[in-house]
Amino acid sequence: MTNDRHALMNLRCPQGIVTVDGILEGYQRYQALLAALDLGLFEYLDREGGGNRNEIAEGIGINGLFARDFLNVLVEAGLLVLDGEHYHNATAATGFLLPQGPFFQGDVVRNVARHTSWNNLAAALARQDPAQGKAGTGPSAAFIAALGQNALRGELQTVTRAIASWKSFHKARRLLDVGGGHGLYAIALCQANPDLRAVVLEQAGVVDTTRRHIAAYGLEDRITVEVGDIRAESLGSGHDIVLISHLLYKFRKNLAPIFKSVSASLAPGGLFVSNHWFCAAGCTVEARAVQALSKALQSFGHPLCREEEFDRLFAENGFNVVTTTSALASFGPTRLQLAEKHAD
Ligand SMILES: C[S@@+](CC[C@H](N)C(=O)[O-])C[C@H]1O[C@@H](n2cnc3c(N)ncnc32)[C@H](O)[C@@H]1O
Repeated sequence: MTNDRHALMNLRCPQGIVTVDGILEGYQRYQALLAALDLGLFEYLDREGGGNRNEIAEGIGINGLFARDFLNVLVEAGLLVLDGEHYHNATAATGFLLPQGPFFQGDVVRNVARHTSWNNLAAALARQDPAQGKAGTGPSAAFIAALGQNALRGELQTVTRAIASWKSFHKARRLLDVGGGHGLYAIALCQANPDLRAVVLEQAGVVDTTRRHIAAYGLEDRITVEVGDIRAESLGSGHDIVLISHLLYKFRKNLAPIFKSVSASLAPGGLFVSNHWFCAAGCTVEARAVQALSKALQSFGHPLCREEEFDRLFAENGFNVVTTTSALASFGPTRLQLAEKHAD
């Protein structure tokens, strides 16, 4: 080492390290949340009505030496509340981190680190084509569960209420949900219309997961899950409603045959529902950068781009678009379209 570069004793730390540390702390807080989920902390506090740090350490099986600091990270993060010596769940934990709750987000939380492009971002950013698992296998059960938990934050309610307000919804008997994943859209619609039966078409590696979700709602007798491919020549026939949500991105260069087979699969007067992200007008950058990158990674950088091209495909395949609205998905608003197949 030469002595002429930096006199270390006189180096002055520049400003800005708090920015770097803030990012690291975000990661460490995230790891604390993962640990709390893995240790069942929120369930323990819910069951026991809270506790002091020694009780909690014993209850969840951690070394008491770490308990106070660990719990205080979660207090600072807004997930626990400390009253004197007593810790209990904050509203965010009660609402979103109890596995039995309808808005449980545990898989969404875990998924960021374990099953998405975020766990090896450098590789994901360098990829030239969408990641391919083994042909036709599809995403993991954890990823599918996370998609379902995300959808239940409000997107699913908006989409299914829009479908339920379609004038013929209560006369509908057959629904096809292509790439339905978690099956929650089919479940919600069958709950709303007791005469409706549904088929969820999915990749071979996903169908067991879909079936588990459907069984959890006791709807196995009305919702069947079939292995299939949206690119197949036929998607069956006589459906009253065909739903496609967040699936078309990777087929965006060849949408025409899909519109054709959806049209052929619908009964006259039937409804085609599409729910997808499109580029913002002029393909401009959106406000929340992390959210925008998440969306780009999930849709492989290609929200559907040309609204007018999409609308033309509806017209060319015998559809009349009855509503174009939007659902707020976790990574931004979608374009939600309901299109009726001409009755003749
Ligand atoms: C992003 S998820 C959307 C799940 C659900 N429709 C939603 O909106 O929450 C896309 C789903 O499409 C399925 N999928 C992918 N390629 C498919 C194909 N060629 N045919 C049918 N389904 C496919 C995946 O397995 C996955 O469950």
